[in-house]
Amino acid sequence: MRQFAAWGTAWQEKYASDLFFRTTVHIVALQALLVIILIGVFWSSLRYSNHEVAQAVVSHLVSILENNSSVSPETFTATIENLQADVTLLMFLGIVVLAIAFGFIISSVTLRPARETLRYQKLFISNVAHELRTPLSTIKTSTEVALLDDKLPLTQRKTLLSNISELDRVSEIINNLLSLNTFTRPERMQLQDLDLGSIVEEVVKRHTALANERDVKVLIKMDAHRMVWGNPSGLEQVVTNLLKNAISYTPKNIDGVVTISVQPDYHGMVILSVEDNGIGIAQEDLFHIFEPFYRVDTSRARQIRRAGSGLGLTIVNEIVRVHHGRIRIQSTLRKGTAVSVYLHAGSVPEAPERQPSMPGGRSEVSMDFSKGFSSSHHE
Ligand SMILES: Nc1ncnc2c1ncn2[C@@H]1O[C@H](COP(=O)(O)OP(=O)(O)OP(=O)(O)O)[C@@H](O)[C@H]1O
Ligand SMILES: [Mg+2]
Repeated sequence: MRQFAAWGTAWQEKYASDLFFRTTVHIVALQALLVIILIGVFWSSLRYSNHEVAQAVVSHLVSILENNSSVSPETFTATIENLQADVTLLMFLGIVVLAIAFGFIISSVTLRPARETLRYQKLFISNVAHELRTPLSTIKTSTEVALLDDKLPLTQRKTLLSNISELDRVSEIINNLLSLNTFTRPERMQLQDLDLGSIVEEVVKRHTALANERDVKVLIKMDAHRMVWGNPSGLEQVVTNLLKNAISYTPKNIDGVVTISVQPDYHGMVILSVEDNGIGIAQEDLFHIFEPFYRVDTSRARQIRRAGSGLGLTIVNEIVRVHHGRIRIQSTLRKGTAVSVYLHAGSVPEAPERQPSMPGGRSEVSMDFSKGFSSSHHE
């Protein structure tokens, strides 16, 4: 008896403290409840059917005894069969409705720990990132102050300079983690009518120095229809990450050209496209580039760009998802990459239909958030 009481207390404590155990208990209880209700439905339908059949038989017998029955035995049997078929159909419908309703309830209970874990994870990332930001900027400032000393030996100066660039990299990762955290919360993204063209012009202007440093020419092609339904800082981040990638992954020694365009697709969407003639992405990497921290680790990629955080495209993907848009990347190794982001237009332009074409030899991956997830692939 004492053993049972000990088990009871242990279970009670586990139930109170362990979310996963609590969820298991809830699911088992819900399933037991479903079974009990189903047995109840089955039992009542059977009783109802028996009662109705008995009543029909009795009234039929009474009319035979009173000699005024005009119903033939075949018709009477058919009436009974119809009655039983109606009750069975109603019972099945009831069972299906109950199964669907319990399915929704059980899935929401099952997903609760996953949602909680995700919420906790986001909170954890954001707290860690915030906590790291201040000491990092303090270290950077003191390193910069140390560099002001003219008497500093060359080797130490070099070490401090490399420390600063590593600190910048860590800061970039932290900022990207914070962005990812913000943009994965749709409630924080207020959408409005905005001019995507002016965002593109602004971002291109800000990257002139980077483009000059890498000898890359940036061309802008803009249509009159540039209004989209979006979040200004989210879309600014999309354009920035795509443009930075296009410029960064184009080698210096070629005639690098990056073309960034905004044009309507005449189906209620506006396409932001960023095209480069850089190193391209191999087919096997295309499927992973939206994953957090995924970087294509080829010597060629390492040669032309120091390690980024691998979060740029993950952030772009999240922002496009919140906008219910679509993203498509086509790439040919050593020839270049074209990224197209489809966003909902502020207003639908009227013009003839156009079919998008795909040149041969290209690999492609696309994410469609307007109709759930889809990933396609051609070669
Ligand atoms: N335009 C491009 N051309 C060639 N490779 C690209 C291009 N864009 C992305 N990639 C490849 O995809 C990988 C993931 O890109 P992503 O922007 O997510 O991360 P990153 O550029 O490495 O780092 P971050 O953007 O966070 O600084 C890159 O490491 C790069 O190898
Ligand atoms: Mg990037």
